Amino acid sequence: RQKLSALCAVRMATQDLYLFFHGLPLPKIVHSEESLEDFRKFKVQNDDIFVISYPKSGTTWMQEIIPLLLNGGDLTPVESIPNWERVPWLEETRAVLFLDKLSAPRTMVSHMPYPLMPPTFSSSKAKAIYIARNPKDVLVSSFYFHQMASFLDDPGTFEEFMDKFLAGQVLFGKWTDHVKSWRNTDLGDRIFYITYEELIQDLRGALERMLRFLGRQMSEEALDRVTEHCLFKNMKKNNMSNYSLVPQEVMDSSKSHFLRKGIAGDWKNHFSPELEDKFNAVIQKELEGSGINFPWD
Ligand code: A3P
Repeated sequence: RQKLSALCAVRMATQDLYLFFHGLPLPKIVHSEESLEDFRKFKVQNDDIFVISYPKSGTTWMQEIIPLLLNGGDLTPVESIPNWERVPWLEETRAVLFLDKLSAPRTMVSHMPYPLMPPTFSSSKAKAIYIARNPKDVLVSSFYFHQMASFLDDPGTFEEFMDKFLAGQVLFGKWTDHVKSWRNTDLGDRIFYITYEELIQDLRGALERMLRFLGRQMSEEALDRVTEHCLFKNMKKNNMSNYSLVPQEVMDSSKSHFLRKGIAGDWKNHFSPELEDKFNAVIQKELEGSGINFPWD
């Protein structure tokens, strides 16, 4: 706690806040050379389940959803265990504290691009759910996150932050590199793709599809309960998931809440027509020829 406060007392220079892993900036507060080495050496088991996301794409939402789909809709764990412990980030320093406590099937999250995953991941039969979100909303969400999280650099103006985002000078690098890396895998039916927007549009339907992918079943009543619990307005009240357990000097909820708006399309309140053109031009060029189509395209 003391170390955290010292680290966060003053906004530090970028080089003090991030360490670079294969060129990707990762916040030092939860990553270290050692945690990244452990990550690469991690022994994936065949029944492991991974949630994969680029930051601000709905990771916390999936940390709520997946345990409920796997346990038949029992709300106890999501109401008593913090999300980072319940479905830990494999690359983070805190992983060692929680991984041993997970019972099979272990569920973990990662923000890593596919080529940097532990080698035992692709050789195993582990499953992955990749959640993507409209990069314009990812940018907006990340902009507010940078304002409230003292362990990230000051985002500057929205336009300045957009330039950094498009150049990949942000957490886990370029959004386009991330989505392309996870679309071009040899994982076959071991990977399931979903979007934040699909969850917003029809949460229950998305849960049913994920249940099928995970080979699980649930009563109609349990599915109703899980759907209701995972709605933004309800999840926002869950102290195990809304980051209210994190000290104010680390995440300042007076600047922005972690569970901020929870909608699709907030980008329309932030992009001028000029910024939209600039953003579209870069993203479209970088996705050209990838064959990837998103619902927001
Ligand atoms: P906003 O900042 O746009 O509100 P991540 O968990 O990957 O960091 O993503 C955070 C984003 O997911 C935030 O977006 C947050 O509000 C949103 N989110 C989390 N839980 C949600 C839910 N139940 N419904 C809708 N959005 C949710």
